[in-house]
Amino acid sequence: MPSWRDHLQRLRVAEHGPALVRAVVARNERVAARVCVLDLRLEEDVPAPSAGQFFLVDCGGGREHLLRRPLSVMGYDPAPQPALIFLVEVVGWGTRRLCAMQPGEKVGLLGPLGRGFGAPAGRFSLLIAGGMGIAPLLFLSHELKSREQACDLIAGFRDSGQVFGGRQDIGSPNGVCTEDGSMGGRGKVCDGLAGRLSEFGYTSVFACGPGGMLEETARVCAAAGVPCQVSLDSRMACGLGMCRGCVKQGAGGANLCVCKDGPVFDSTQVFD
Ligand SMILES: Cc1cc2nc3c(=O)[nH]c(=O)nc-3n(C[C@H](O)[C@H](O)[C@H](O)COP(=O)(O)OP(=O)(O)OC[C@H]3O[C@@H](n4cnc5c(N)ncnc54)[C@H](O)[C@@H]3O)c2cc1C
Ligand code: FES
Repeated sequence: MPSWRDHLQRLRVAEHGPALVRAVVARNERVAARVCVLDLRLEEDVPAPSAGQFFLVDCGGGREHLLRRPLSVMGYDPAPQPALIFLVEVVGWGTRRLCAMQPGEKVGLLGPLGRGFGAPAGRFSLLIAGGMGIAPLLFLSHELKSREQACDLIAGFRDSGQVFGGRQDIGSPNGVCTEDGSMGGRGKVCDGLAGRLSEFGYTSVFACGPGGMLEETARVCAAAGVPCQVSLDSRMACGLGMCRGCVKQGAGGANLCVCKDGPVFDSTQVFD
């Protein structure tokens, strides 16, 4: 039976395999009532992450809170010292601890993990974010624009306590709404999606957010014949495809290993 370390070693042989690394908190800024942006400077190199990939972050809980928490990369800067930017919403012990970290504190990370977003079909993409789903989509928007591929990013939040409007170095959404109307327009981010697809002629859709939002987005895209990629959320332990703790049922009853085969899937793999 191969050990966890053997498995990690085998993955590292792959060009983009994950690494266990240490980082230092460079900046931690509260950007909404429940949300912070965490800038980490890496003390060792990691393979450059692509949009949609994530890291498992050690929140420093020792034996009581053993599991690292999955967080999507929102920004990556390779030079002069590699740096990662994460967006964190406080929901429980680990995320509360991360949002309370002070500059200079050390953090352990494993990553980059998973499969990120694939290339868009056609020339004009719509990125749809629900809640903290905005983190990987801001990274994707940055990547697409640096390749001169056009895209719009729209973001929906539950209420103003969750709203993150972006940052100069990583960009910002083109439109924001909240379910309770406390900031931006009132409603859900995929309201009126069918009309938006035909009005603007989007050729690809990328979505990350709660399951119901992803399902609705996938349904509308399938009806409109627009290819759609969705990033799934699942509770995770190893992040390496070993424990099967993250498996979700996809289209036709297929078992999807979210950490290794995802978190990004073509919507037709996930929804019937
Ligand atoms: C691929 C991926 C990317 C993510 N990216 C982000 C991000 O960029 N920003 C952000 O704020 N959140 C993100 N999340 C959700 C985040 O991982 C959870 O909110 C976090 O793990 C909760 O930990 P906690 O200790 O605060 O909460 P607790 O509820 O105390 O956690 C208990 C356990 O459940 C797990 N858990 C709880 N909720 C979730 C959840 N929604 N998803 C996965 N595991 C969960 C925790 O990891 C931990 O092992 C992501 C989740 C996944 C799967
Ligand atoms: S978290 Fe262990 S297999 Fe996905």
